[in-house]
Amino acid sequence: MGNIISENSLKSIPKSPKSKLSLGGKKRIKKAQRRSSISTSMSSSTTRSSESTYRYVDGRRFNENSKYALPNDDAEIDRLQLQHYLQRYIWQGNFCAPVHRILKKPSARVLDVGCGPGTWILEMAFDYPDAHFTGIDISPMYPKEIKPSNVNFEEVDLTEGLPFADDTFDFVVMRNMVNALTVEDWVYSLKELERVCKPGGFVECLEFQIPAIHLGKVSKRVSEAYVQIMRTKNIDITIAPRLKEMFATCTTLTNIEHQVRIAPVGKWGDKAGKIMSEDLILITKAMGPVLIPLWGIGASQYEEFTNESAKEYENGKVYCNLHVIFAQKYEPYRYI
Ligand SMILES: C[S@@+](CC[C@H](N)C(=O)[O-])C[C@H]1O[C@@H](n2cnc3c(N)ncnc32)[C@H](O)[C@@H]1O
Repeated sequence: MGNIISENSLKSIPKSPKSKLSLGGKKRIKKAQRRSSISTSMSSSTTRSSESTYRYVDGRRFNENSKYALPNDDAEIDRLQLQHYLQRYIWQGNFCAPVHRILKKPSARVLDVGCGPGTWILEMAFDYPDAHFTGIDISPMYPKEIKPSNVNFEEVDLTEGLPFADDTFDFVVMRNMVNALTVEDWVYSLKELERVCKPGGFVECLEFQIPAIHLGKVSKRVSEAYVQIMRTKNIDITIAPRLKEMFATCTTLTNIEHQVRIAPVGKWGDKAGKIMSEDLILITKAMGPVLIPLWGIGASQYEEFTNESAKEYENGKVYCNLHVIFAQKYEPYRYI
């Protein structure tokens, strides 16, 4: 389903191979220092691990140490899983880059940045049992004990640097991070993704374009308010259509591909539309703790906004553009 608009990018040859960044780096050293101070100063009643503190607003749980605006509780895990199945359906697969043959190799290594509950990784680990998968996230929402032997997860803040050496992974994926990264974070993060990707390997990002198109009056108001709030944190959640340009600033990423598919919302989109509508309703609910204080309204009034938005999603002709951008890391000729 969905229309596909595919753009073949200019095949850019990098000006010069990127100089290697050290694994340590100032940001990582700063993080190690912060970790040691956090672990001694936090009380056990407010932490689940040595690195995450939780803040509760209107019954929703948030990561205290992150500017990420959405919750990290069970309801959010359910939403992310629903969204994963929807995205897999829209793309008819779990990735777009031509990595199938690479992932069949026993030594293949894959990194999922901001992996959330790890749904994508767990499926990929099943499909490619000989490859090894690493998921990192600032909030440990992923399974800690019960997981396949070819998967590991680590609690890492991407914006402080990835704890992996240069040229480590064959495939580096980052999905649904528009709520999490400032414009500067995007620039830095893409360069980190590029750095840890092996020459000849691929980097892929997938993002919804926000706001959705043809929203009704109430859902538009909620959505626009959310865009504005996030802008005050320097997070541009409308960034998806411009990611290709950002990929192009990474000097060793070549053959950049950008594809867009349409995800209809509500009845007109049939089964997928129903899931999209549910996803948007859950996001609208998750935004409550941010919008309620901003608008100075009560929880019940916000519930009315949510219900009205739900009707608009269900009955209108709303749709979202879903963008995938992928590129291959430049591999210089090797003389044997
Ligand atoms: C919308 S979820 C997407 C999860 C998963 N990629 C998916 O598509 O289902 C965004 C994830 O990014 C994580 N995140 C936010 N800021 C982060 C950061 N600075 N470093 C690492 N992960 C981060 C959040 O904890 C959350 O799990």
